[in-house]
Amino acid sequence: MLSTLTPAPLDPILSLTVAFREDQRANKMDLGIGVYKDEHGATPVMAAVKASQEQVFATQETKAYVGLVGREGFNRFMIDLVLGDSAAKERAVGLQTPGASGALRMLADLIRRATPSAKVWISNPSYVNHQPVMESAGLVVEKYDYFDPETKQVNEAAMLASLEHASAGDVVLLHGCCHNPTGADISFDAWQQLTEMALQRGFVPFVDIAYQGFGDGLEQDAAGLRYMAERVPEMLIATSCSKNFGLYRERTGAAIIVGKTLDNARLGLGRLLQLARSTYTMPPDHGAAIVETILADDQLKAQWLSELNVMQQRLRSLREGLVNAFHARDCFDFDFIAQHKGMFSHTGLTVEQIDALRDEHGIYMVGDGRINIAGLQEERLAELVDAILQVIQKA
Ligand code: LMR
Repeated sequence: MLSTLTPAPLDPILSLTVAFREDQRANKMDLGIGVYKDEHGATPVMAAVKASQEQVFATQETKAYVGLVGREGFNRFMIDLVLGDSAAKERAVGLQTPGASGALRMLADLIRRATPSAKVWISNPSYVNHQPVMESAGLVVEKYDYFDPETKQVNEAAMLASLEHASAGDVVLLHGCCHNPTGADISFDAWQQLTEMALQRGFVPFVDIAYQGFGDGLEQDAAGLRYMAERVPEMLIATSCSKNFGLYRERTGAAIIVGKTLDNARLGLGRLLQLARSTYTMPPDHGAAIVETILADDQLKAQWLSELNVMQQRLRSLREGLVNAFHARDCFDFDFIAQHKGMFSHTGLTVEQIDALRDEHGIYMVGDGRINIAGLQEERLAELVDAILQVIQKA
Protein backbone atom coordinates (compact mmCIF):
# COMPACT_ATOMS: atom_id res chain seq x y z
CA MET A 1 0.00 0.00 0.00
CA LEU A 2 2.54 2.58 1.11
CA SER A 3 4.80 2.08 -1.91
CA THR A 4 2.09 3.62 -4.09
CA LEU A 5 2.66 6.96 -2.35
CA THR A 6 4.90 9.74 -3.55
CA PRO A 7 6.81 11.73 -0.89
CA ALA A 8 4.73 14.50 0.67
CA PRO A 9 5.91 18.06 0.05
CA LEU A 10 7.38 19.80 3.08
CA ASP A 11 5.26 22.36 4.93
CA PRO A 12 6.76 25.77 4.09
CA ILE A 13 6.62 27.01 7.71
CA LEU A 14 7.09 23.92 9.85
CA SER A 15 10.02 22.65 7.73
CA LEU A 16 11.76 25.99 8.28
CA THR A 17 11.68 25.44 12.05
CA VAL A 18 13.43 22.09 11.60
CA ALA A 19 16.06 23.60 9.27
CA PHE A 20 16.67 26.42 11.77
CA ARG A 21 17.09 23.98 14.64
CA GLU A 22 19.64 21.98 12.66
CA ASP A 23 21.65 25.05 11.64
CA GLN A 24 24.83 25.07 13.75
CA ARG A 25 25.68 28.76 13.25
CA ALA A 26 25.75 30.69 16.52
CA ASN A 27 24.49 33.93 14.95
CA LYS A 28 21.42 32.42 13.23
CA MET A 29 18.11 34.32 13.40
CA ASP A 30 14.64 32.73 13.29
CA LEU A 31 12.03 34.98 11.65
CA GLY A 32 9.94 32.02 10.47
CA ILE A 33 7.12 30.40 12.41
CA GLY A 34 4.58 32.64 14.15
CA VAL A 35 5.71 32.21 17.73
CA TYR A 36 6.19 35.17 20.08
CA LYS A 37 9.66 35.64 21.54
CA ASP A 38 10.72 37.99 24.33
CA GLU A 39 13.83 40.19 24.46
CA HIS A 40 15.91 37.13 25.38
CA GLY A 41 14.68 35.21 22.35
CA ALA A 42 12.63 32.88 24.57
CA THR A 43 8.95 31.91 24.46
CA PRO A 44 8.24 31.55 28.18
CA VAL A 45 5.00 30.27 29.66
CA MET A 46 2.95 33.37 30.57
CA ALA A 47 2.78 34.01 34.34
CA ALA A 48 -1.04 33.96 34.28
CA VAL A 49 -0.89 30.60 32.50
CA LYS A 50 1.57 29.21 35.10
CA ALA A 51 -0.64 30.34 37.97
CA SER A 52 -3.76 28.98 36.31
CA GLN A 53 -2.04 25.70 35.52
CA GLU A 54 -1.17 25.25 39.18
CA GLN A 55 -4.82 25.76 40.11
CA VAL A 56 -5.89 23.25 37.48
CA PHE A 57 -3.41 20.67 38.81
CA ALA A 58 -4.49 21.29 42.41
CA THR A 59 -8.21 21.08 41.79
CA GLN A 60 -8.62 18.58 38.97
CA GLU A 61 -10.09 15.39 40.36
CA THR A 62 -10.65 13.32 37.24
CA LYS A 63 -9.38 12.75 33.75
CA ALA A 64 -12.73 11.36 32.60
CA TYR A 65 -14.02 12.58 29.21
CA VAL A 66 -15.42 16.10 29.06
CA GLY A 67 -17.72 15.79 26.04
CA LEU A 68 -17.82 16.43 22.30
CA VAL A 69 -18.27 20.18 22.66
CA GLY A 70 -15.28 20.50 25.00
CA ARG A 71 -15.61 22.86 27.95
CA GLU A 72 -18.87 24.80 27.87
CA GLY A 73 -17.35 27.52 30.08
CA PHE A 74 -14.36 27.90 27.78
CA ASN A 75 -16.63 28.15 24.74
CA ARG A 76 -18.68 30.92 26.38
CA PHE A 77 -15.51 32.83 27.27
CA MET A 78 -14.24 32.50 23.69
CA ILE A 79 -17.52 33.88 22.37
CA ASP A 80 -17.20 36.79 24.84
CA LEU A 81 -13.59 37.52 23.85
CA VAL A 82 -14.35 37.56 20.15
CA LEU A 83 -17.83 39.10 20.07
CA GLY A 84 -17.50 41.42 23.10
CA ASP A 85 -20.82 43.12 23.80
CA SER A 86 -22.07 42.67 20.24
CA ALA A 87 -25.70 41.60 19.96
CA ALA A 88 -24.55 38.71 17.74
CA LYS A 89 -23.61 36.91 20.95
CA GLU A 90 -27.29 36.12 21.50
CA ARG A 91 -27.27 33.87 18.44
CA ALA A 92 -23.76 32.40 18.75
CA VAL A 93 -22.56 28.95 19.77
CA GLY A 94 -19.04 27.58 20.21
CA LEU A 95 -17.13 24.34 19.88
CA GLN A 96 -13.75 23.85 21.54
CA THR A 97 -11.27 22.65 18.92
CA PRO A 98 -7.64 21.54 18.65
CA GLY A 99 -6.27 25.01 17.83
CA ALA A 100 -7.62 27.34 15.16
CA SER A 101 -6.59 24.92 12.42
CA GLY A 102 -8.96 22.39 14.02
CA ALA A 103 -11.68 25.05 13.97
CA LEU A 104 -10.95 25.87 10.33
CA ARG A 105 -11.25 22.21 9.39
CA MET A 106 -14.45 21.57 11.35
CA LEU A 107 -16.08 24.66 9.85
CA ALA A 108 -14.86 23.71 6.36
CA ASP A 109 -16.45 20.27 6.79
CA LEU A 110 -19.64 21.98 7.93
CA ILE A 111 -19.71 24.22 4.85
CA ARG A 112 -19.22 21.17 2.63
CA ARG A 113 -22.18 19.42 4.32
CA ALA A 114 -24.45 22.44 4.21
CA THR A 115 -23.59 23.82 0.74
CA PRO A 116 -21.49 21.31 -1.23
CA SER A 117 -21.17 23.69 -4.18
CA ALA A 118 -19.92 26.62 -2.08
CA LYS A 119 -16.64 28.16 -3.12
CA VAL A 120 -14.38 29.51 -0.40
CA TRP A 121 -12.72 32.82 -1.26
CA ILE A 122 -9.37 33.42 0.41
CA SER A 123 -7.11 36.45 0.25
CA ASN A 124 -4.15 36.51 -2.12
CA PRO A 125 -1.92 35.71 -0.29
CA SER A 126 -3.36 34.00 2.77
CA TYR A 127 -2.23 31.86 5.69
CA VAL A 128 -0.44 28.86 4.15
CA ASN A 129 -2.86 26.39 5.72
CA HIS A 130 -6.09 28.03 4.52
CA GLN A 131 -6.17 26.54 1.05
CA PRO A 132 -5.03 23.00 2.10
CA VAL A 133 -7.59 22.83 4.91
CA MET A 134 -10.45 23.99 2.67
CA GLU A 135 -9.44 21.67 -0.16
CA SER A 136 -9.01 18.71 2.19
CA ALA A 137 -12.65 19.24 3.15
CA GLY A 138 -13.54 18.96 -0.56
CA LEU A 139 -14.21 22.67 -1.11
CA VAL A 140 -13.18 24.70 -4.13
CA VAL A 141 -10.94 27.66 -3.30
CA GLU A 142 -10.93 30.98 -5.18
CA LYS A 143 -8.65 33.92 -4.42
CA TYR A 144 -9.61 37.55 -4.04
CA ASP A 145 -7.16 40.39 -4.63
CA TYR A 146 -5.70 41.66 -1.40
CA PHE A 147 -2.08 42.75 -1.08
CA ASP A 148 -0.60 45.46 -3.26
CA PRO A 149 3.12 44.64 -3.71
CA GLU A 150 3.82 48.29 -4.59
CA THR A 151 2.31 49.98 -1.54
CA LYS A 152 2.67 46.90 0.72
CA GLN A 153 -0.85 47.70 1.92
CA VAL A 154 -4.26 46.23 1.11
CA ASN A 155 -5.74 47.27 -2.22
CA GLU A 156 -9.27 47.53 -0.83
CA ALA A 157 -10.83 48.62 -4.12
CA ALA A 158 -9.39 45.55 -5.88
CA MET A 159 -10.46 43.32 -2.99
CA LEU A 160 -14.05 44.54 -3.14
CA ALA A 161 -14.07 44.30 -6.93
CA SER A 162 -12.95 40.66 -6.93
CA LEU A 163 -15.55 39.77 -4.31
CA GLU A 164 -18.22 41.02 -6.71
CA HIS A 165 -17.73 37.56 -8.25
CA ALA A 166 -18.69 35.71 -5.06
CA SER A 167 -22.10 34.09 -5.41
CA ALA A 168 -24.89 33.61 -2.91
CA GLY A 169 -23.92 30.70 -0.68
CA ASP A 170 -20.18 31.15 -1.25
CA VAL A 171 -17.98 31.71 1.77
CA VAL A 172 -15.51 34.58 2.10
CA LEU A 173 -12.62 33.89 4.45
CA LEU A 174 -11.34 37.07 6.11
CA HIS A 175 -8.56 37.67 8.62
CA GLY A 176 -10.04 39.30 11.74
CA CYS A 177 -6.81 41.22 12.40
CA CYS A 178 -3.03 40.96 11.97
CA HIS A 179 -3.22 39.48 8.47
CA ASN A 180 -1.07 36.40 8.02
CA PRO A 181 1.29 36.56 6.09
CA THR A 182 1.31 40.25 5.12
CA GLY A 183 0.59 42.24 8.31
CA ALA A 184 -1.60 44.53 6.16
CA ASP A 185 -5.12 44.82 7.60
CA ILE A 186 -8.29 46.16 6.02
CA SER A 187 -9.75 49.42 7.34
CA PHE A 188 -12.94 49.64 9.38
CA ASP A 189 -14.50 51.25 6.33
CA ALA A 190 -13.73 48.10 4.30
CA TRP A 191 -15.37 45.97 7.01
CA GLN A 192 -18.48 48.11 6.60
CA GLN A 193 -18.44 47.76 2.83
CA LEU A 194 -17.86 44.01 3.02
CA THR A 195 -20.82 43.74 5.40
CA GLU A 196 -22.99 45.53 2.88
CA MET A 197 -21.74 43.22 0.12
CA ALA A 198 -22.38 40.09 2.19
CA LEU A 199 -25.95 41.27 2.76
CA GLN A 200 -26.53 42.13 -0.88
CA ARG A 201 -24.73 39.20 -2.51
CA GLY A 202 -25.61 36.57 0.09
CA PHE A 203 -22.13 35.23 0.77
CA VAL A 204 -21.25 33.98 4.23
CA PRO A 205 -18.29 35.63 6.02
CA PHE A 206 -15.84 33.24 7.70
CA VAL A 207 -13.41 35.10 9.95
CA ASP A 208 -10.11 33.64 11.15
CA ILE A 209 -9.00 35.66 14.18
CA ALA A 210 -5.92 33.84 15.47
CA TYR A 211 -3.98 36.94 16.60
CA GLN A 212 -6.52 38.94 18.60
CA GLY A 213 -4.68 41.31 20.92
CA PHE A 214 -1.46 41.57 18.90
CA GLY A 215 -2.57 44.44 16.63
CA ASP A 216 -4.16 47.47 18.28
CA GLY A 217 -5.50 45.67 21.37
CA LEU A 218 -7.96 42.94 22.30
CA GLU A 219 -11.13 44.98 21.71
CA GLN A 220 -9.90 47.11 18.80
CA ASP A 221 -8.71 44.02 16.91
CA ALA A 222 -12.23 42.57 16.89
CA ALA A 223 -14.07 45.81 15.99
CA GLY A 224 -14.55 44.99 12.28
CA LEU A 225 -15.59 41.42 12.99
CA ARG A 226 -18.11 42.58 15.63
CA TYR A 227 -19.61 45.20 13.33
CA MET A 228 -20.11 42.57 10.67
CA ALA A 229 -21.39 39.84 13.03
CA GLU A 230 -24.16 42.14 14.28
CA ARG A 231 -25.47 42.74 10.78
CA VAL A 232 -25.07 39.56 8.77
CA PRO A 233 -27.45 36.63 9.26
CA GLU A 234 -24.71 34.02 9.45
CA MET A 235 -21.00 34.07 10.21
CA LEU A 236 -18.36 31.44 10.93
CA ILE A 237 -15.38 32.24 13.17
CA ALA A 238 -12.15 30.35 13.94
CA THR A 239 -10.20 31.54 16.95
CA SER A 240 -7.08 30.47 18.78
CA CYS A 241 -5.39 30.67 22.18
CA SER A 242 -2.02 29.68 20.69
CA LYS A 243 -0.76 33.23 20.38
CA ASN A 244 -2.58 35.45 22.88
CA PHE A 245 -2.31 32.88 25.70
CA GLY A 246 0.97 31.44 24.37
CA LEU A 247 -0.57 27.96 24.46
CA TYR A 248 0.81 26.84 21.09
CA ARG A 249 1.45 23.19 21.86
CA GLU A 250 -1.72 22.74 23.91
CA ARG A 251 -3.83 23.06 20.73
CA THR A 252 -6.51 25.30 22.15
CA GLY A 253 -9.02 27.06 19.92
CA ALA A 254 -12.70 27.38 19.11
CA ALA A 255 -15.11 27.30 16.21
CA ILE A 256 -17.92 29.82 16.63
CA ILE A 257 -21.13 29.88 14.61
CA VAL A 258 -23.35 32.95 14.48
CA GLY A 259 -26.75 31.85 13.14
CA LYS A 260 -29.86 33.71 11.95
CA THR A 261 -31.32 32.62 15.27
CA LEU A 262 -29.88 30.75 18.21
CA ASP A 263 -31.80 27.64 17.11
CA ASN A 264 -30.21 27.95 13.70
CA ALA A 265 -26.75 28.20 15.21
CA ARG A 266 -27.50 25.16 17.37
CA LEU A 267 -28.42 23.21 14.25
CA GLY A 268 -24.95 23.96 12.94
CA LEU A 269 -23.37 23.02 16.27
CA GLY A 270 -25.14 19.65 16.22
CA ARG A 271 -23.49 18.90 12.89
CA LEU A 272 -20.14 20.14 14.17
CA LEU A 273 -20.38 17.69 17.07
CA GLN A 274 -21.07 14.88 14.64
CA LEU A 275 -18.11 15.95 12.49
CA ALA A 276 -15.84 16.19 15.53
CA ARG A 277 -16.92 12.71 16.63
CA SER A 278 -15.88 11.21 13.31
CA THR A 279 -12.62 13.17 13.16
CA TYR A 280 -10.93 13.38 16.59
CA THR A 281 -13.95 12.94 18.92
CA MET A 282 -12.91 15.40 21.66
CA PRO A 283 -10.44 18.24 21.90
CA PRO A 284 -7.53 18.09 24.38
CA ASP A 285 -8.61 19.58 27.70
CA HIS A 286 -5.56 21.06 29.38
CA GLY A 287 -5.22 24.33 27.45
CA ALA A 288 -8.94 25.07 27.63
CA ALA A 289 -8.94 24.38 31.39
CA ILE A 290 -6.11 26.92 31.78
CA VAL A 291 -7.91 29.58 29.71
CA GLU A 292 -11.24 29.04 31.46
CA THR A 293 -9.55 29.38 34.86
CA ILE A 294 -7.86 32.64 33.82
CA LEU A 295 -10.97 34.22 32.36
CA ALA A 296 -13.13 33.23 35.35
CA ASP A 297 -10.79 34.95 37.81
CA ASP A 298 -10.54 38.76 37.81
CA GLN A 299 -6.99 38.80 39.10
CA LEU A 300 -5.65 36.20 36.69
CA LYS A 301 -7.48 37.90 33.85
CA ALA A 302 -5.92 41.27 34.71
CA GLN A 303 -2.49 39.63 34.84
CA TRP A 304 -3.05 37.96 31.47
CA LEU A 305 -4.24 41.23 29.90
CA SER A 306 -1.18 43.06 31.14
CA GLU A 307 1.14 40.34 29.77
CA LEU A 308 -0.68 40.43 26.44
CA ASN A 309 -0.25 44.19 26.41
CA VAL A 310 3.51 43.81 26.92
CA MET A 311 3.68 41.48 23.90
CA GLN A 312 1.66 43.86 21.74
CA GLN A 313 3.80 46.85 22.74
CA ARG A 314 7.00 44.91 22.08
CA LEU A 315 5.84 44.09 18.55
CA ARG A 316 5.11 47.76 17.96
CA SER A 317 8.43 48.93 19.24
CA LEU A 318 10.31 46.28 17.23
CA ARG A 319 8.50 47.48 14.10
CA GLU A 320 9.57 51.05 14.80
CA GLY A 321 13.07 49.94 15.73
CA LEU A 322 13.48 48.06 12.46
CA VAL A 323 12.30 51.02 10.39
CA ASN A 324 14.70 53.28 12.31
CA ALA A 325 17.55 50.84 11.70
CA PHE A 326 16.83 51.08 7.94
CA HIS A 327 16.75 54.89 8.24
CA ALA A 328 20.16 54.79 9.94
CA ARG A 329 21.44 53.24 6.70
CA ASP A 330 19.62 55.88 4.61
CA CYS A 331 17.06 53.35 3.43
CA PHE A 332 13.43 54.51 3.46
CA ASP A 333 11.93 51.61 1.47
CA PHE A 334 10.74 49.61 4.48
CA ASP A 335 8.63 52.24 6.26
CA PHE A 336 5.53 50.11 5.63
CA ILE A 337 6.72 47.72 8.39
CA ALA A 338 5.68 50.27 11.02
CA GLN A 339 2.17 50.42 9.56
CA HIS A 340 1.64 46.66 9.52
CA LYS A 341 -0.08 44.97 12.44
CA GLY A 342 0.62 41.92 14.57
CA MET A 343 3.37 39.35 14.23
CA PHE A 344 4.05 39.43 10.52
CA SER A 345 5.18 41.69 7.71
CA HIS A 346 5.48 40.87 4.05
CA THR A 347 8.90 42.27 3.09
CA GLY A 348 8.66 41.96 -0.68
CA LEU A 349 12.09 40.25 -0.78
CA THR A 350 12.57 37.81 -3.66
CA VAL A 351 13.11 34.06 -3.33
CA GLU A 352 16.79 34.54 -4.28
CA GLN A 353 17.24 37.22 -1.62
CA ILE A 354 15.51 35.04 1.00
CA ASP A 355 17.72 32.06 0.08
CA ALA A 356 20.83 34.25 0.30
CA LEU A 357 19.78 35.57 3.72
CA ARG A 358 19.48 31.99 4.96
CA ASP A 359 22.59 30.58 3.28
CA GLU A 360 24.96 33.50 3.79
CA HIS A 361 23.65 35.06 7.01
CA GLY A 362 21.72 32.32 8.87
CA ILE A 363 18.54 34.44 8.72
CA TYR A 364 15.41 32.32 8.27
CA MET A 365 12.15 33.73 6.89
CA VAL A 366 9.23 32.10 5.08
CA GLY A 367 9.75 31.66 1.33
CA ASP A 368 7.00 34.15 0.46
CA GLY A 369 8.97 36.96 2.16
CA ARG A 370 7.10 36.94 5.47
CA ILE A 371 9.05 37.82 8.59
CA ASN A 372 7.97 37.20 12.15
CA ILE A 373 8.54 40.54 13.87
CA ALA A 374 8.45 38.79 17.26
CA GLY A 375 11.58 36.86 16.27
CA LEU A 376 13.61 40.09 16.14
CA GLN A 377 16.02 41.20 18.86
CA GLU A 378 16.47 44.89 19.56
CA GLU A 379 20.26 44.62 19.60
CA ARG A 380 20.39 42.72 16.29
CA LEU A 381 18.22 45.04 14.18
CA ALA A 382 21.22 46.72 12.55
CA GLU A 383 22.72 43.32 11.75
CA LEU A 384 19.48 42.25 10.03
CA VAL A 385 19.24 45.51 8.10
CA ASP A 386 22.85 45.19 6.90
CA ALA A 387 22.22 41.61 5.76
CA ILE A 388 19.03 42.61 3.89
CA LEU A 389 20.72 45.56 2.21
CA GLN A 390 23.64 43.35 1.22
CA VAL A 391 21.44 40.75 -0.50
CA ILE A 392 19.41 43.49 -2.19
CA GLN A 393 22.52 45.23 -3.53
CA LYS A 394 23.91 41.91 -4.79
CA ALA A 395 20.80 41.15 -6.84
C1 LMR B 1 2.28 30.57 11.41
O1 LMR B 1 1.61 31.05 10.48
O2 LMR B 1 3.50 30.65 11.47
C2 LMR B 1 1.57 29.86 12.53
O3 LMR B 1 0.20 30.08 12.46
C3 LMR B 1 1.94 28.44 12.65
C4 LMR B 1 1.19 27.55 11.71
O4 LMR B 1 0.39 26.75 12.17
O5 LMR B 1 1.42 27.63 10.51
